[in-house]
Amino acid sequence: MLRVGVLVSGGGTNLQAILDAEKAGRIRNAKVVFVLSNNSSAYALVRAKQAGIRTLCLSPAAFPDRASFHGALLETLQKEGLDLIVLAGFLVRVPEEVIRAFRGRIINIHPSLIPSFCGKGYHGIKVHEAALRCGVKVSGATVHVVDEELDHGAILLQRAVEVRDDDTPESLQRRIMEEAEWNLLPAAIDGIANGKLKWKEASERR
Ligand code: GRF
Repeated sequence: MLRVGVLVSGGGTNLQAILDAEKAGRIRNAKVVFVLSNNSSAYALVRAKQAGIRTLCLSPAAFPDRASFHGALLETLQKEGLDLIVLAGFLVRVPEEVIRAFRGRIINIHPSLIPSFCGKGYHGIKVHEAALRCGVKVSGATVHVVDEELDHGAILLQRAVEVRDDDTPESLQRRIMEEAEWNLLPAAIDGIANGKLKWKEASERR
């Protein structure tokens, strides 16, 4: 059984999708055992507690400097004995020491078809604003392995979503969540846990 930790900052609909998939048997041989947030008012923490999962809030603001926050984050994740770390709307840049310690074992979901609309500054609604500004006819979501570069590591799964003429950033964001994100992230965890995704090889590719 793969021990999965999920890192969150906000509403936690992706976390919920993972928990629902676990319950429905769509994720086999993996279990979310720990949820960490940088933000104590993240609704994702409520969802985790309701599901009986251990939670912790580690806020950078509670530490004297960034280095001590990074140290505490690494120590916490190691103590939990996690096999897989899932970034599900985690708005903190994962420090290099964590990436090194969990090389190839951290995945992220990004709400666009990488390499479009990703990297610095592309988070939340900004991703969808940029996609609409550009006039793309399809957008989507990507699950990728996390490496030192933002939204860059090997791509594991992608799903395209149609952009409609009357879309607003909010309507596009919602459709991408419903049609892509909430399926892709559970599918990635199940794929990794059951050897269907060659994620180790993929993480060495880039
Ligand atoms: C999602 O759009 C995800 O792709 C992005 O942040 C958002 C998190 O939403 N990385 P939620 O907290 O899972 O509802």
